[in-house]
Amino acid sequence: MSRVNSVWVYWRRKLRSIGFDLTWTMFGLAAFTAISVMMVVGYIFVIYTDALLKYSAEILVKRYKIPDAALNQLIEEASLRVERKLDLQFLDPSDRNFLLGLTVLTVLLPLILAWWSSRRFARPLTDLSKAAHQITSGDFSARAKLTKSLERREDETALLLQDFNQMAQSLENLERERKYSVAAIAHELRTPVTVLRGRLEGVRDGVLVADNTEIEKLLGHADLLSKLIEDLQLLSLAEAGELRLEKKNFVLQDLLIRIQSDFMQKAEQQKLELLLEQPPQAAQVHGDQQRLYQVLSNILNNALRHTPAYGLIKMQLRIFEQTIQLEIQDTGAGFSAEAQTRAFERFYRSADRSRKSGGSGLGLSISRSLIEAHNGTIELLPSQQGACVRLTLPKVSS
Ligand SMILES: Nc1ncnc2c1ncn2[C@@H]1O[C@H](COP(=O)(O)OP(=O)(O)OP(=O)(O)O)[C@@H](O)[C@H]1O
Ligand SMILES: [Mg+2]
Repeated sequence: MSRVNSVWVYWRRKLRSIGFDLTWTMFGLAAFTAISVMMVVGYIFVIYTDALLKYSAEILVKRYKIPDAALNQLIEEASLRVERKLDLQFLDPSDRNFLLGLTVLTVLLPLILAWWSSRRFARPLTDLSKAAHQITSGDFSARAKLTKSLERREDETALLLQDFNQMAQSLENLERERKYSVAAIAHELRTPVTVLRGRLEGVRDGVLVADNTEIEKLLGHADLLSKLIEDLQLLSLAEAGELRLEKKNFVLQDLLIRIQSDFMQKAEQQKLELLLEQPPQAAQVHGDQQRLYQVLSNILNNALRHTPAYGLIKMQLRIFEQTIQLEIQDTGAGFSAEAQTRAFERFYRSADRSRKSGGSGLGLSISRSLIEAHNGTIELLPSQQGACVRLTLPKVSS
């Protein structure tokens, strides 16, 4: 019973498919065209034979003086012969086969052509609909089949399938990131909370003394937690486009000089040189100074962390016609191959960056969201020596 059912369901779906509809529509069109052509040809043939008969009769009457009665008899006899000739029974075997073949061809050929061309149009759509259905059911790995011929084609169907597959890929990535993010947030929150709890229990049980040093440590863990929560909130607001930015026009050099002097002491303590190279003309941008300061301070903190003593961190500003570019280059080990591709992912941090050292791996993803909120871009440039981060912002003409 279930087999009969599934066969029935299969055929019902086939009969209601776009492929079936297209096949019959095309066959109908082809048959209609064939019949119309045959009717026109037939009509011309009738006119031709009528004229032939008329002029033959006229010639016979005029030139050979054949009486009307004899002429009628002649025509009747000729008609009889023609009828006999057209009767399938008395038709020459070669003529009969030719006629039969022609009839079969006029029906079969349009049918085959209709089936073939409808398959060409309908098949990609059927595949697309199957993949869309799978995605709706939660299987984000589904893709529409891109055959070789479709890959070669550049029409709307091929583009639709390619775009759909790209969209499915983005959805799959987003879903993976979402799952990973939730797990990572839970993991990141668990660590400081566990430490806090353990220490507080120690104080309660009298194992640890609640002196100033201990309280400072507890506060340190609480600070880590609030920083993480703040970062997460900032990131989600920025990604949702809900971040309130206080944008105004300002000269980027002013911000760079301020940040250079703020980081100078830290750099000197690490025996690092912190340089700023800038053109004489003012680089006007439209943005939120505080947020851009946050981006730069994350990049500089990263550079300070990854550059060994006696190294150099250089901020280089360039002004172009439409844009302003700032490159921050250090002389550390540079981005690892993995970091080069994953550094902007949420919670990505290199193995040597433990939670204790303060990094949650959100710095660069926050920076990217903030820079994008300023209609700019942030890139990690391949560099021979150390890491190089390039920020590009739209220039405001003064
Ligand atoms: N200047 C650099 N040189 C080498 N690797 C870097 C540099 N800057 C960043 N990275 C790599 O990119 C990773 C991600 O950087 P990101 O700023 O997002 O996180 P983090 O610095 O580890 O943590 P957080 O910024 O949240 O404190 C780092 O863990 C590190 O592996
Ligand atoms: Mg960082």
